[in-house]
Amino acid sequence: MEWIKVAGAQELGDDEVKAVNVAGHRIALYRCDGEFFATDNMCTHAEALLSEGYVEDGCIECPLHQGRFDIRTGKAMCAPVTVDVRTHAVKQEGDDIYVRSPDSQ
Ligand code: FES
Repeated sequence: MEWIKVAGAQELGDDEVKAVNVAGHRIALYRCDGEFFATDNMCTHAEALLSEGYVEDGCIECPLHQGRFDIRTGKAMCAPVTVDVRTHAVKQEGDDIYVRSPDSQ
């Protein structure tokens, strides 16, 4: 299992999202209620980066057509998105945030 350091904990405030690269994969890293989560960055509906959307009530809203995904589970929450977005394991060690490489899952 390969963990990739992607950010420092202080780089993200609550309800913020940041694009990170995990072994060549485009990942969106979120902070919600002091915890960190990660999903694929590409929306499952069309070509849009979730890291350019905004976080509200534990969901990420896509910037292109305003589809929403649950940040913790990746579940598609409302039209037009119908396919869940893939989530990724995150761990925090001190001030460092790691995401598990999608290649090792
Ligand atoms: Fe994300 Fe359409 S591209 S909702």
